[in-house]
Amino acid sequence: MLTRSIGRLRPHVVRPLRQSALIGQAQGRKLSTLNKLEPKDVEHFATILPKTSILSTLPPIHGSADDLDPFNSDWMGKYVGQSQCVLKPRTTEEVSKIMKWCWERRIPVVPQGGNTGLVGGSVPIGSEVILNLSNMNKIRTFDPISGILVCDAGCILESLSEFLDPHKHIMPLDLGAKGSCQIGGNVSTNAGGLRLLRYGSLHGTVLGLEVVLPDGRVMDQLTTLRKDNTGYDLKQLFIGAEGTLGVVTGVSILTPAAPMAQQAIFLALPSFATLPKVYRAAKRHLSEIISAFEYFDRQSYNLVSGHTGAKALEDSEIGDSQAFVLIETSGGDANHDQEKVNNLLEELYEPADGEEALINSGALSQSADQFASLWAFREGIAEAAGKSGKVYKYDISVPVSEFVNTTNRVRERVGHKVKEVVGYGHVGDGNLHINVIAETYTKEIEELLEPFIYEVVASHRGSISAEHGIGKMKPQHLHYSKDAVSIDLMKKIKQLFDERGIMNPGKVVPM
Ligand code: FAD
Ligand code: MLT
Ligand code: ZN
Repeated sequence: MLTRSIGRLRPHVVRPLRQSALIGQAQGRKLSTLNKLEPKDVEHFATILPKTSILSTLPPIHGSADDLDPFNSDWMGKYVGQSQCVLKPRTTEEVSKIMKWCWERRIPVVPQGGNTGLVGGSVPIGSEVILNLSNMNKIRTFDPISGILVCDAGCILESLSEFLDPHKHIMPLDLGAKGSCQIGGNVSTNAGGLRLLRYGSLHGTVLGLEVVLPDGRVMDQLTTLRKDNTGYDLKQLFIGAEGTLGVVTGVSILTPAAPMAQQAIFLALPSFATLPKVYRAAKRHLSEIISAFEYFDRQSYNLVSGHTGAKALEDSEIGDSQAFVLIETSGGDANHDQEKVNNLLEELYEPADGEEALINSGALSQSADQFASLWAFREGIAEAAGKSGKVYKYDISVPVSEFVNTTNRVRERVGHKVKEVVGYGHVGDGNLHINVIAETYTKEIEELLEPFIYEVVASHRGSISAEHGIGKMKPQHLHYSKDAVSIDLMKKIKQLFDERGIMNPGKVVPM
């Protein structure tokens, strides 16, 4: 039985935005039918917003291009735009006025939340106006009886969790970017994250949305109803639309009651081969209290450990373990939960069928600090990869049994050209992340990886984007996961909402 306590690991940090090399040049195709921003536009924006809410190189603001760099560049430094204007509205009315003007003038707009997206959706492909939601950060209402929270779209996910804490509620989603990403960005990417296994997707927990449409009209569906079968559920279209159909300005979301007891269990497995058995045993023993089941390979473990100096277990306990699992339980009674965890661990060490132990070693959190430290280790993979080089990120759905085969196929294909290939993901959701870490972004590496990975995914009828979205990275590859009829309907929906093509052009829908 595991009783060992572990040391404090490095706390969660979200890497600040960087500016770096230009990779994604403006395609300009669709943009050619649109107008370029002129000083008269900025002058007009200055009648809607205070000058402190406008960053622009154009008159009458005359700002420095450097001030706009963090908004023009994505989190990875992979996608870089050339916007000359960032607007930071404070109210839905201001957003509506801005969109009305841009619609009339056919000026393209990119909605931007925390700019933590990983597919280049939040930065311009050319010189679109950036509509940054960070000044829309108010809680509108919270009902402690129903647990329904209504807030502005620019609220940062972690701030919402902090707001809910004294009410003993939690947000139904959690991700490593929580300190920077906004709920509007989460909704717009239909972010999955670490708790989806337990609380489901935002398609279920989001109860209502307020959206400013491309022509400036406000669609008010900010209801707090659990049940509402009054025709088409339009809000669902905006969940995962990545800012291509409108600007989400308000969100109504169902928040679960905070669990009374939580534990993190960190396990080192001899190889990936035993992981499916560990997962099945965990579901059986932990049943209703399991809230996350995360996997990472040895390369990911070494990456985080090398980057942070942290260890989840002593080296001697890890030995040559090749796969690692982080399980979270969230229940109502610590003793009851502990008994379930003990039963699970007994089976993992001594399987009933007399087989070899399914795990080499493990650690169980004994305090809130240790719980946070184990999670920080898992959440630190993205940051450690980014610190180690330029990262090609693949976020796919394939059968869990194919996680290692798929990662190995990528290693075989590009391993000799890059620094490292790591595999990790959300086992409970069948979502594998493959990060290919290179010295620099090159066409040669990209062409080795794409469409190779998407072809492998399609052979399993998987998804080329499990949770990060399509953004600028994948519109041309959408057909690996969506049939021609579905893509045709997506184009028609885009046309219906945005016939002038001003909303986040060049993203999601193939041209
Ligand atoms: P942004 O990056 O600013 O925008 C993302 C997209 O949404 C863009 O297309 C943008 O135009 C659009 N958008 C943003 N706000 C609005 C709005 N108000 N209205 C309309 N459109 C809008 N993702 C996961 O799914 N699961 C994870 O576990 C996860 N972990 C991450 C960990 C790290 C360290 C990092 C850096 C990223 C991670 N991500 C993860 C990806 C990213 O954080 C999520 O996609 C997040 O939901 C994006 O939110 P954001 O506010 O940063 O949006
Ligand atoms: C994660 O699961 O850590 C996130 O989706 C981020 C990433 O894949 O880099
Ligand atoms: Zn993820």
